[in-house]
Amino acid sequence: MSLTLGLETTCDETSAAVVADGVRVCSTVVRSQIDLHAKFGGVVPEIAARAHLEILNAVIARAMEEAGVTAEQLNGVGVANCPGLIGCLLVGVAAAKALAFAWEKPLVGVNHVHAHLYATRLQQGTEIDVRPPAELWPALGLVISGGHTSMYWMDGFTQVRRIGSTIDDAVGEAFDKVAQILQLGYPGGPLVEQLARSGDPGAIQFPTSLLGRESLDFSFSGLKTAVLYYVNGSKGIQRDASALSRQELADVAASFERAAAEVLAAKCRRALDRQPAKSLLVGGGVSANGTIRTKLLDLGRELGLQVFLPAPIFCTDNAAMIAGLAAHELQSGHQHGLNLPVLATV
Ligand code: KG4
Ligand code: ZN
Repeated sequence: MSLTLGLETTCDETSAAVVADGVRVCSTVVRSQIDLHAKFGGVVPEIAARAHLEILNAVIARAMEEAGVTAEQLNGVGVANCPGLIGCLLVGVAAAKALAFAWEKPLVGVNHVHAHLYATRLQQGTEIDVRPPAELWPALGLVISGGHTSMYWMDGFTQVRRIGSTIDDAVGEAFDKVAQILQLGYPGGPLVEQLARSGDPGAIQFPTSLLGRESLDFSFSGLKTAVLYYVNGSKGIQRDASALSRQELADVAASFERAAAEVLAAKCRRALDRQPAKSLLVGGGVSANGTIRTKLLDLGRELGLQVFLPAPIFCTDNAAMIAGLAAHELQSGHQHGLNLPVLATV
């Protein structure tokens, strides 16, 4: 059995995890900084970096303890070294380098976005099949999170080419903004989903943009503004969500969710029309959304391709996906030196 420690500090979650054989999650510890940033209405990079610095050692110790693993037993240390907030990345990468050096273990830097797609491989529990599915590549990858909404052609978990991304808001950002408009709180995605359950997804036809007939890019700012004008009146300043009944708010949430799911499925269909794939891999916080999962699974059934979605706890930012992808890289003979750089964008 091979054991990998993973660290994730790209944004506002401090996380460490131990994964066996690149697939079986032995422990995963995630400390969210939501409380620290809530009063600013978004993540403050300097505060996030400082918070990572304060708690990362304790989070790592907890992950090792929960897994019942000692440093000697580890086969490598993986860390997300891109993309992300630069100060935050530096904290995780400095910690990973120090541990790899002190424990004399190989170091592997991985791309956080590619790791979201690798999360489809992670499993918990006892009945675990570590064999990769036979018919995976080529695959279409879809990452839908608070920071990213992008599609990729994939010939492997690190042979990844971006073919489209959002030209304005990420879909998770749209969920968070809609939650704000509906006065639900932060982070918005799960709260919008919860409210949408009692709403009618066909109640309101919000306009969606596919950006012309050819584009594989996404745009969600128009949809977000349509929700704002619907709830707050024209120009978004006449009233607020308190003017609408609970049922009307639920209808807005459900109709928004349906519109977002339709755009994502339409773009995947467009990409797959152009180039066939054996599977569709989906990852990122928004892939926890039930309506979106169902829509993408339906698309896969219709087109005859397998759809892989992470277990809900591995959709949002976590170090298990980093450890898993790092283990996969180590197994392929790849590792980095102690000069591993951090990159805010890639
Ligand atoms: O992947 P993630 O943890 O962080 C980034 O890399 O951005 O994604 C966070 C995003 C947030 O915008 C959050 O509102 C959204 O994922 N999210 C959801 C759900 N759970 C989290 N959106 C829709 N439905 C959900 N159930
Ligand atoms: Zn993420």
